[in-house]
Amino acid sequence: MCKNILVIAGILILVLSCKNNQNNLVSHEIIPSPSKIISTDGSLLVGKNLYVIMDDNSIDANRVKSYIRGFFSQTFQTENLPKQSKDGFLIYLNIEQGFSSEAYNLKVDKEGVHISASDYAGLFWGFQSLRQLFPPEIESGKRPDNLELPFVEISDEPRFKYRGMHLDVCRHFFTVDELKTYIDMLVMHKFNVFHWHLTEDQGWRIEIKEYPKLVEIGSQRSETVIKKNWGEYDGIPYGGYYTQDEIREIVKYAEDRFITVIPEIEMPGHALAALASYPELGCTGGPYEVAKTWGVFDDVFCAGNEKTFEFLENVIDEVCELFPNSPYIHIGGDECPKTRWETCPKCQLRIKEEGLADEHELQSYFIQRMEKYINAKGKKIIGWDEILEGGLAPNATVMSWRGEEGGIAAAKQYHDAIMTPGGYCYFDHYQSEDVENEPFAIGGFTNCEKIYGWNPIPDTLTADEAKYIIGVQANVWTEYILDLPHIQYMVLPRMAALSEVAWSNSTRDDYSEFKKRLQTMFMRYDAAGYNYAEHELE
Ligand code: ACM
Ligand code: ZN
Repeated sequence: MCKNILVIAGILILVLSCKNNQNNLVSHEIIPSPSKIISTDGSLLVGKNLYVIMDDNSIDANRVKSYIRGFFSQTFQTENLPKQSKDGFLIYLNIEQGFSSEAYNLKVDKEGVHISASDYAGLFWGFQSLRQLFPPEIESGKRPDNLELPFVEISDEPRFKYRGMHLDVCRHFFTVDELKTYIDMLVMHKFNVFHWHLTEDQGWRIEIKEYPKLVEIGSQRSETVIKKNWGEYDGIPYGGYYTQDEIREIVKYAEDRFITVIPEIEMPGHALAALASYPELGCTGGPYEVAKTWGVFDDVFCAGNEKTFEFLENVIDEVCELFPNSPYIHIGGDECPKTRWETCPKCQLRIKEEGLADEHELQSYFIQRMEKYINAKGKKIIGWDEILEGGLAPNATVMSWRGEEGGIAAAKQYHDAIMTPGGYCYFDHYQSEDVENEPFAIGGFTNCEKIYGWNPIPDTLTADEAKYIIGVQANVWTEYILDLPHIQYMVLPRMAALSEVAWSNSTRDDYSEFKKRLQTMFMRYDAAGYNYAEHELE
């Protein structure tokens, strides 16, 4: 009897203590929210000497290790470490089977930090979560006193494989260092694609050795319209471009951070800067001028002239060499008026000879021909949703920007699509309805709450079709954005909200819970020296 009572009491104690010690699912402050986070009692005292432990010296392993050491270079002793240290902070990195792409497990226990993944990107994103277990000051390199990390185990994987941020460097130009900061911002929010919009009516920004006039002429405009006051100009010459070495520098900087840079070379429209440099590529032969105002222009590449394709193929040759790791070349394809083609004898002859119905099919001919060339070089094309016009190129990925319809149409044709609809993903839009008190912007209204509540997989798609929505992207057009602090104001914290859509597998049905986490993110932005919009600051 007595023994039975003891056994029952023992079981009770065990159950109760298990309950107390039970690995609690806790609230946390990581953005984007991980799939699962389990907290256990206790914490790790963080020593002053950082040991990143991984017996793997492959290029990618070294990338992860040197990123971590670099990130902590002011916070910890990272070099000339004693062999044995009582004051060590140990981060164990481990590649093992069983994780999906970019997924990771992160554990803090009494031995240190353990990050496991099946690929190096997974280790890298795991470290980005570890970063957010530290107090925000860590972002400034300052070492908080008595640093402790709570014991925790996080399992996490991305919802989408494509998580993009675009930047237009043509309407306004940004330096290599500014782009590196932009890439750092992507890293912090687990975005893995930088879509680099490099050519436009208002400026050609990438050096192409075969065509030196593209930068001599095409990268410069004589002056710029003042806001939307057509006819009023600032009288100030404006320009800039990236040398091929600078392009390589950015590609490497991104690659070291597991971010793919996708270059965009616009065709057949948004081509005035190229036409100003090489007028023979336009239907009328010019002369043309690098645009000084915004919008859409009638002068586009001539689709009937073989020289246009020779030019673009040579450009693509150099671009492919500069972006060896991007599986994609973005060929634009948006906003191409057909006005010139309608009256151009060469374009009309092409329509006739190719048996095309109209100028829309001529656009499709143009894109399909370039796709064939780019595919032969081992890369795929992405185009804005106008590439659906007149028939989609066989292997193209569609970037849906005029709403979600383009993405839906692509997915229904079993083509990959990236969702970037204006209403949710255009970060050049206003983020407050009180526009009087905002920096001048193009229009629209997209705030964090709207982005956070967005479902990028439309209900109209079947489960099979939905698989073709490979991800999401925000676009940052810079007609009215002149400097990096202004870019940061437009993208932070909207990028945090979009990161939850892009990465997290949560239901996102509690905006106030996200907003709470955002308050800590603001402290991180402050410590990192990032400007941000304060509408969501409590
Ligand atoms: C676009 O915004 N023209 C793609
Ligand atoms: Zn033409």
